[in-house]
Amino acid sequence: MRKTENQLLVIFGASGDLTARKLVPALYKLYKDKHLPEHFAVLGVARSFMTDEEFRKRVALESKYLDDSEEFIATFSEKLFYEDLHKKYDVDYRELNERIQDLNTTYQCDNNIIFYLSTPPSLFEAIAKNLTAKGLNDERLGWKRLIVEKPFGYSLETAKSLNDGLHRYFKESQIYRIDHYLGKETVQNILVTRFANSIFEPLWNRDYIHHVEITNAESGGVESRGGYYDKSGALRDMFQSHLLQLVALIVMEPPLSANPEEIRNEKMKALKSLRLMTDPKVLEENTIRGQYLASEIEGEKVKGYREEVDVDPDSTTETYAAVKFYVDNWRWADVPFYVRTAKRMPTKVTEVVIHFKSPHHQIFKNSDMNKDNKLIIRIQPDEGILVKFGVKVPGQGFAVERGNLDFYYESLGDESHIMEAYERLLLDAMQGDATLYARADEVEAAWRFTDPILDHWKKGDAKIYGYSAGVWGPQHADELIEGKSMWRNPCENLADDAGYCVIE
Ligand code: BG6
Repeated sequence: MRKTENQLLVIFGASGDLTARKLVPALYKLYKDKHLPEHFAVLGVARSFMTDEEFRKRVALESKYLDDSEEFIATFSEKLFYEDLHKKYDVDYRELNERIQDLNTTYQCDNNIIFYLSTPPSLFEAIAKNLTAKGLNDERLGWKRLIVEKPFGYSLETAKSLNDGLHRYFKESQIYRIDHYLGKETVQNILVTRFANSIFEPLWNRDYIHHVEITNAESGGVESRGGYYDKSGALRDMFQSHLLQLVALIVMEPPLSANPEEIRNEKMKALKSLRLMTDPKVLEENTIRGQYLASEIEGEKVKGYREEVDVDPDSTTETYAAVKFYVDNWRWADVPFYVRTAKRMPTKVTEVVIHFKSPHHQIFKNSDMNKDNKLIIRIQPDEGILVKFGVKVPGQGFAVERGNLDFYYESLGDESHIMEAYERLLLDAMQGDATLYARADEVEAAWRFTDPILDHWKKGDAKIYGYSAGVWGPQHADELIEGKSMWRNPCENLADDAGYCVIE
């Protein structure tokens, strides 16, 4: 096991819901599983005033995910501290620095500090600058790392200027851009499935693969995040970051080793090979956006997107996005990729489906299913892998039907504990492993591909289709897929793919 050195974790934006919902529960779990170093402390920083005690109670109370909050208060919460910034992030960090130094000495953190930026992105650069003014980027006495939450920019231009801004104060090797999808065990397993087996990789190319489909569906709506979401939309919120990272893992070439830079170099090459769409006609034909409409789900009324809190009643922000694109390289030439993401779908599921070509020469009549060899990589829920293949129906003749070969993480028993993404990512950053963090050039490459789609949609002449909450998006999205293929409408259970599934 790698060593986790003594350290202090400073969370900016600590009064926000991410701290209570994800970060503190992840730290608590790491603590219970004995992954934290002997000397460790957390300092929450935000604008509003709170005492340490109030902060501890607040995270314990707000976090529904802390199932044993009494034990948490009695043990782990003593490691939590809080410092306010007098209502502004862009101030002299003198007092903050004094508190950091004090905690560092009292808790023997060896001058190793992680700064976790969980504030709006507009504050990232100012925070980095103010930390630098107090020498808090200096690594002579102990390492300093900066974890940056998404969204990383709103466009290529803003992402570049954010990268430039951060690089003024911190080296790239000190910056960890979080993408919590990379923290998911099943996403990492894509690398293992591809590069630890000899049976998939020979088929992993244009000669055998007909098309690739990625679905990310959520049954929930925008809930309390209307203010953020209305300025963002599905493409920025999910596609540019999480889904293009998935695409990179599917598309990439085998890296020389599992070294972070080798893996990130290959992912970067993959992202660079996505064919940019700039022609309005191509964009019109290959992208679909939609917005959910009021509906009834299992007898309960569900609001339409435009009626959600903090959403503009005339909003044209997409809650559904589907994009068809190509990858211009030797391995993937002419293989279409279909990627869709949406809120208010029939179920919550994320999966990658590799659709294989049908055999060159069909000898069995009635063997439609032969066309349908699929490798399904289930990211969540019911995590696992499924291969669909043709089997003979017992009896006379050669009727073919579909069989399943499946693997479920659950079947690993005790070893199946899947570390929550934030647990894994925090631990990696604490140990200085950036493999599962996005590098500056990767983020920019993903924006370079996404920007023209956003620009096209912004112009307003691109249609936005309504879909009733609880269905698989606008009907027009079906036309995106060529030939006789269809989107696989997945269910909560990996093996089921009935047209419509139970709504959670
Ligand atoms: C976040 C998005 O990054 O990912 C949310 O901002 C989305 O809108 C969430 O709901 C989905 O994450 P997961 O892990 O539940 O698939």
